[in-house]
Amino acid sequence: MASASSSSRAVMLWLLPLATLTAIDANTHAQREARLKLSQQELKNGSAVYWRGGTSGGFQVLLLDEDRGRLLIGGKDHIYMLRSDSVDLPLSTVSWTADPSAVRHCLTIGKSFHDDCANFVRLLQSLNDTHIYACGTGAFRPQCAILSIQNKEALSLLPHTITSGLGKCPYSPKEPFTARLNDGEVYAGTSVDFMGTHAAIFRTSVGAPGRHLRTEAYDRNWLNVPEFVASVAIADTHNSDDDKIYFFFREAAVEAQQWDKRIYSRVARVCKNDVGGRRSLINRWTTFLKARLVCSVPGPSGVHTHFNRLEDVFVLKTKERQNPVLYGLFTTSSALFGGSAVCAFSMASIRAAFNGPYAHRDGPDHRWFEYKGRIPYPRPGACPSKTYDALHESTRDFPDEVVSFMRQHQLMWEAVLPVGGRPMFTRVNASHLLTSLVVDRPDIGDGTTVVLFLGTDDGKVLKVVTSETEEIVLEELHVFQSGAAIRSMKISSKKVRR
Ligand SMILES: *[C@@H]1O[C@H](CO)[C@@H](O)[C@H](O)[C@H]1NC(C)=O
Ligand SMILES: *[C@@H]1O[C@H](CO)[C@@H](O)[C@H](O)[C@H]1NC(C)=O
Ligand SMILES: *[C@@H]1O[C@H](CO)[C@@H](O)[C@H](O)[C@H]1NC(C)=O
Repeated sequence: MASASSSSRAVMLWLLPLATLTAIDANTHAQREARLKLSQQELKNGSAVYWRGGTSGGFQVLLLDEDRGRLLIGGKDHIYMLRSDSVDLPLSTVSWTADPSAVRHCLTIGKSFHDDCANFVRLLQSLNDTHIYACGTGAFRPQCAILSIQNKEALSLLPHTITSGLGKCPYSPKEPFTARLNDGEVYAGTSVDFMGTHAAIFRTSVGAPGRHLRTEAYDRNWLNVPEFVASVAIADTHNSDDDKIYFFFREAAVEAQQWDKRIYSRVARVCKNDVGGRRSLINRWTTFLKARLVCSVPGPSGVHTHFNRLEDVFVLKTKERQNPVLYGLFTTSSALFGGSAVCAFSMASIRAAFNGPYAHRDGPDHRWFEYKGRIPYPRPGACPSKTYDALHESTRDFPDEVVSFMRQHQLMWEAVLPVGGRPMFTRVNASHLLTSLVVDRPDIGDGTTVVLFLGTDDGKVLKVVTSETEEIVLEELHVFQSGAAIRSMKISSKKVRR
């Protein structure tokens, strides 16, 4: 089998949008670089699997929970549950529509009945073995609910659990968005108005609807027209007080010149135990910091070619819980060339940026520079910890000067540079752009070899092997005959049942 050639282990990919497949001639779109080209027929025997069910369309979110043997798919007005090891028809399908009054209102504000005014499910997370948390756009009136699973196979929505999804889910099915559930709280990067112009990073509670924490509203230094890409919980040290949630997004760069509408990619973080300030920054993050993520190719004259637009992030676990490797997929907004690149980032380099100097400017019309003044204690952005500092058990105990420093300094001065100082894979001037990635570390080899699966905007998946010395495009999988872009992929290392 062709697809088994690169790695000793069976790999299964779940891809969005899910599509019904028919065989095509792979050679008609052949790329010279690919060592192997697989048609959809071959694929069905190989390394990707497809699901033919689900007529609703509008698929936006996959929840693969292999430990519990389930795969959930969120679509338009529907949630489907499948066994994670099978490509059979769904075990269970739940219909979850928007409130009719929301649909009517959605139409009166000029939105489309088919493309906007329905409940597009955008968040699916496991609460525990038997319950799922879901949020949908609710025809431009976001809503969330809990679903229960009986006997591991019957999914049902609990109507009394339906609540507002404000701060948890966007209004629009098209808005870039990220959210994750962590210890009963939803961390989300989303807009909170139907125009989609006002976005923030929120923490809201599943159990206690009134409680929330967020980034400051209408302050461009915190977030400047952000487009969210991903979020992940990463422990920083062995002390759980240091646990943080990281957000990845792109935004208009405040530190670039005013006339230069430049887009930068960012990594931001907040402490899980942040509860906001006492006198100032009430219900606001007191630990929010962000840094620029750079993925660029150094040129001969020292000028870098920047891949500035972050499109996707994959977190590859390592033996150390605190130190996963983060892979970012970037494209460019350059008018001169089109291209995509993959850069790897170590947690050490991300932490170094957050532990380094802050960026500062004296006012909106001033230039940014490296802040060299006095830094108050405890260090702004550090999490409070009972273990190490009994005086500052909570962010409400932070001295006023720390809180006031946090009001003025969200941006770090140093950018985060990729491992090796350059991308590990680039594709420039090709017929397609890369849209999504997952990464596998095969059991074989020296431990530095990774396999990248890269989804394209014309319905393909490239399988690329990279090591410290080389990059090889092993396969080009033609997944969607329609040429639809690959928006989301999940990778499974468990075997597929056929
Ligand atoms: C796929 O597998 C089936 C049965 O295992 C085999 O008959 C068929 O020839 C295979 N197709 C391709 C394209 O390899
Ligand atoms: C799972 O979560 C649901 C909803 O929060 C809760 O009602 C249920 O008791 C939980 N089950 C277990 C076993 O913790
Ligand atoms: C990409 O195409 C542009 C315009 O045709 C060209 O100037 C540039 O050199 C090409 N870049 C690469 C890396 O091939």
